[in-house]
Amino acid sequence: MASAPPKPRPRISEAGFDLDTVDRLLSTTRAVRRRLDFDRPVPREVLLDCIRLSQQAPTGTNAQHWRWLVVDDPEKKKALGEIYARGLPLLDESAKTARDDQTADVYRHARTLAERLGDVPVLVIPCLEGRLVDPESLVLATTYYGSIYPAVWSFQLALRSRGLGSTFTTMHLAFEEDARAVLGLPEDVVQMAMLPVAYTSGTDFAPTERPAPESITHWNGWSASATRMR
Ligand SMILES: Cc1cc2nc3c(=O)[nH]c(=O)nc-3n(C[C@H](O)[C@H](O)[C@H](O)COP(=O)(O)O)c2cc1C
Repeated sequence: MASAPPKPRPRISEAGFDLDTVDRLLSTTRAVRRRLDFDRPVPREVLLDCIRLSQQAPTGTNAQHWRWLVVDDPEKKKALGEIYARGLPLLDESAKTARDDQTADVYRHARTLAERLGDVPVLVIPCLEGRLVDPESLVLATTYYGSIYPAVWSFQLALRSRGLGSTFTTMHLAFEEDARAVLGLPEDVVQMAMLPVAYTSGTDFAPTERPAPESITHWNGWSASATRMR
């Protein structure tokens, strides 16, 4: 009787990580819009677990001024969904003028999500405490906005590792004040995004197409070499 082929050995990095798992997590955490399970509740403990992991992310000056607003109240989600849906005409316009098919698909899928945003089990709004004092200053702006994005991405990776999906969205920020009123947010707590969060239907997400890293990487200074390597 033929014996079963040997299992491939796990690729363990020098740092002790199983690279197949790590690479799969990093390359398959997608914007999930059409495969959200609207009916399965999301336990608050799972969200707190993911927020706990996100707190290991860096912040400028170690400010740790991130705040998380988690909305699972149906009435508030409905109100936020209505605010978000005001951006639908913009999505339609953007789909028509998209620069390529992949981007046109993104806008179409964004529309699908926008139509049902208020029905997603949880809407998570990462915030920063304190307003940006001088938006013209590059160093202040990058320090400010750069203090939320690493945490948000860690949160999204943690969700994915636990079978949940999300999409980083900003469209409701066009109506920031209306959302602020729904949420009772103080003036000095600033919304940075809104992540619809749900368990996903299946977990078999795939990496998407991206250009070769050589084509976007310059070495030791800016030159045409990055594009020559395409
Ligand atoms: C700063 C930023 C703003 C975004 N705003 C929205 C948004 O308002 N609505 C939406 O559906 N997706 C939004 N996205 C998600 C992107 O459209 C998504 O990452 C892109 O489609 C690529 O898909 P992928 O992450 O699955 O590769 C945003 C992403 C980022 C980083």
